[in-house]
Amino acid sequence: MNKTVLVSGGAGFIGSHVTVELIEAGYEVVVADNFSNCDRTCYEGVKKITGREDLPLEVMDFCDPEAVKALFGKYHIDAVIHFAAFKAVGESVEQPLKYYRNNLDSFLNVLEAAKEHGSFVLFSSSATVYGEPDSVPVTEATPRKPATSPYGNTKTICEDILRDSVKASGGRLKGILLRYFNPIGAHPSALIGELPRGVPNNLVPFITQTAIGKRECLSIFGNDYPTPDGTCLRDYIDIVDLAKAHVYAVNRMVDGRMKQACEVFNVGTGRPVSVLELVNAFEKVNGVKLNYKFAPRRAGDVTAIWADPSLAESEMGWKATRSVEQTLQAAWAWEKHLAGK
Ligand code: UFG
Repeated sequence: MNKTVLVSGGAGFIGSHVTVELIEAGYEVVVADNFSNCDRTCYEGVKKITGREDLPLEVMDFCDPEAVKALFGKYHIDAVIHFAAFKAVGESVEQPLKYYRNNLDSFLNVLEAAKEHGSFVLFSSSATVYGEPDSVPVTEATPRKPATSPYGNTKTICEDILRDSVKASGGRLKGILLRYFNPIGAHPSALIGELPRGVPNNLVPFITQTAIGKRECLSIFGNDYPTPDGTCLRDYIDIVDLAKAHVYAVNRMVDGRMKQACEVFNVGTGRPVSVLELVNAFEKVNGVKLNYKFAPRRAGDVTAIWADPSLAESEMGWKATRSVEQTLQAAWAWEKHLAGK
């Protein structure tokens, strides 16, 4: 019988791409989402891509412990991938309690149920836990730094909660932490992608919305950083590559190949790209001209961070395969699809 994976937040940007890859790898998937930060577009897109009209969908809030218990009672969950969380850095600074309440409560409920039912846990962590690193690229052993936002802090705290619970569980709980760098792009079908509400905070949605005419001008935050062209360096990872990393991690868990009860892997490309390089690559590969200007630095931005992704390759056999150009083409195709072009 196929193994079943529960994807919390499965109708969102990362969750929907992961659902597609899991189904294509032969897993049964249960999508659970409360649609607080997305509509049904990506869920419908996943059904189209995979041909799974019967894809189970549970509309529920992971902050409700009874609903989570009932969900784990209804399905036999071999592994749970937890995405359901708020993710706006700026909003988290203004409303920290909203972020701590939502992002911690939901994860605690998932962990309690997973422990009870012996389900593996995969947590969506972030490179934000490294803060402004002393040296780059960062490995999984690079010390974490204090988070620069409540959102970032919830990632650090959830990492610790998983580690502590695994340690105390006497083998009942096992989990993997994936630390994402900057996920961008969209599925090559252009049926699922990023759907920011309001003005996008992240670079690539802002670029595509500017190119399509929804935004007037892209501001590049800072051109006086100590980097080759003065703009920040990041590790932009294709969303499909990133989604596939989850399949490798779930395979490792359910096939009994974990070497420790709690493992951590960077999910990045190992390739630093500056904001200006990304903007230039977008213009070139898509043949569009972007209206942009240089603006002051954005508070809380780190100068440069990129991954050493070699552990994920040596341990799980996963590595990123898509070029920045391919990814930016997919991001543009998705924006045009949204605009009906
Ligand atoms: N940027 C611009 N203009 C924009 C948006 C972004 O110049 O309109 C720049 C930023 O200054 C940064 C780079 O583009 O140098 C990337 O910015 P993103 O907002 O796309 O991504 P971040 O690296 O800031 O964000 C990532 C994750 C978040 C996480 C954060 C921690 O996407 O989930 O790191 O700081 F919280």
